[in-house]
Amino acid sequence: MKRILITGGAGAIGRNLLRDLYALHGPKLVVAGYNRTPLTGLPKDGLSAQVDVSDYEKLSAVIKRYDIGTIYHLAALLSIAAEENPELARRVNMGGLENILNLAKDHDLRVFWPSSIAVFGSTAPKDGTPQHAPLDPEFEYGRNKVEGERLLKQFSDGFGVDVRSVRYPGLLTPGKPGPGTTEYAIEMVYAAVRGEPYASPLGPDTVLPMMDMRDATRAALEVMEAPKNRIQIRTSYNLSAMSFTPEQLAAEIRRHIPDFKLTYKINALKQKVADSWPNSIDDSLAREHWGWRHSYGLQETTEYMIREIGKEISSLPG
Ligand code: SER
Repeated sequence: MKRILITGGAGAIGRNLLRDLYALHGPKLVVAGYNRTPLTGLPKDGLSAQVDVSDYEKLSAVIKRYDIGTIYHLAALLSIAAEENPELARRVNMGGLENILNLAKDHDLRVFWPSSIAVFGSTAPKDGTPQHAPLDPEFEYGRNKVEGERLLKQFSDGFGVDVRSVRYPGLLTPGKPGPGTTEYAIEMVYAAVRGEPYASPLGPDTVLPMMDMRDATRAALEVMEAPKNRIQIRTSYNLSAMSFTPEQLAAEIRRHIPDFKLTYKINALKQKVADSWPNSIDDSLAREHWGWRHSYGLQETTEYMIREIGKEISSLPG
């Protein structure tokens, strides 16, 4: 069997997907790619490769050296980082994907690439945003994702590259949250577990679609395993699990940590980005085409996050 490469292996999806892939295939068949952020917690005999996805030659060398057959291409800048550094965002988020797709075309690689609810802007219906709603994102990250989706379709239709994709909502997992918009939810749980108040950068009524990371990585594996004829959308599939506001998350946290205090310190950029995204997503085509079902709602995810973050904090020295 050819090996699997993950780019962005040190990121939130990467860390979790690596764990799943090691469990499925063992460490010898998986190569953890990383660039600026070093990897932690790799198995003793785990393979890793430092690779900047915007460097075609280096990527190509890694693919040949490790005999790669499948890539989970996760390396990207999140929404706030992309807004702050649009040039780098384009180089990594779009240039990197184009490199991966060209290599996939030449080496017959299968590819998974995550898109995002950020592809939608204010021209799309806010509630139950359908698969084929207009894509007019107002911020850099969403524009990168829309361009990325177009590239996927072009490489799939034009060259038969088997690239599969889902539009992730905000993803919830223990571990340091990245510079995104939905990541406030992770920060809030960390503050609560530490016994600290949390100042939300988004207003009390801001509803955003979210998903437990355990569902998100399973979606990636399942969309990749689905028979080819079931994948009828070659841009990216809408995916959905739950939606909530900062107030609703705080109320759920208080079922475990009753004296948790939520305050507000609105971050104008994050609020604008959040306001441009959907409240909830219609993912009926993913459910129909390849059998997508989410497993976790707000209650289960909050409980899991509190438990895991509690373990992480209590294992820290001092
Ligand atoms: N969590 C991401 C962000 O806020 C959404 O794709 O940037």
